[in-house]
Amino acid sequence: MLTFLKAAFGNLKQTGSVMESSPQLSRRMTRIINFKKPVHIVELGAGTGSITKHILAQMGYGSSLMSFEINESLFERLQQVQDKRFTGVNDNVLQLQDYAAEQSADYIISGLPLANICAEQKMKILNACKKVLKPGGYYIQFQYSLNDIKLLKQKFLSVSCGFALLNFPPAFVYYAKK
Ligand SMILES: C[S@@+](CC[C@H](N)C(=O)[O-])C[C@H]1O[C@@H](n2cnc3c(N)ncnc32)[C@H](O)[C@@H]1O
Repeated sequence: MLTFLKAAFGNLKQTGSVMESSPQLSRRMTRIINFKKPVHIVELGAGTGSITKHILAQMGYGSSLMSFEINESLFERLQQVQDKRFTGVNDNVLQLQDYAAEQSADYIISGLPLANICAEQKMKILNACKKVLKPGGYYIQFQYSLNDIKLLKQKFLSVSCGFALLNFPPAFVYYAKK
């Protein structure tokens, strides 16, 4: 928690919040994932790994998780995750396609602070995510307001919405299907 708070004081625009996601928000973010079969998941903006660990705890054998985190000190903490199915990437998600092939991911789980990212970069990120997702795959994003639901509805086939009250701040969750 202290690591995240320090990173937030250093660059609040980049972290987008002062605290890691709660267990309830982590559950909401993974609610629609079918863990009964092998899944390939990409996580954007993993922070210290609160959602990462929640995903790994449910993921079966033959599955994989690749998590991006741009902030060095948060990435250092993320790298404490010891799991053969896990790969940490200390890079900007704008480079997503350098690491993940087209139509290779079943789910993309994003904690990126979309509201703090300029329109041009947001479009680049969402376009890259659509390419990396398999047909029928899901882009799952949380946000503290409904700021970007319209944009996701323009980009994806269908978007449904959930809510996590027990989080600081409470958050909406978008489930966007390719
Ligand atoms: C709201 S925090 C979410 C952290 C974590 N997923 C959680 O739920 O506790 C957003 C995270 O995205 C990271 N981030 C922001 N912009 C990024 C970018 N362009 N590429 C990779 N990570 C980024 C931040 O450093 C921060 O850790």
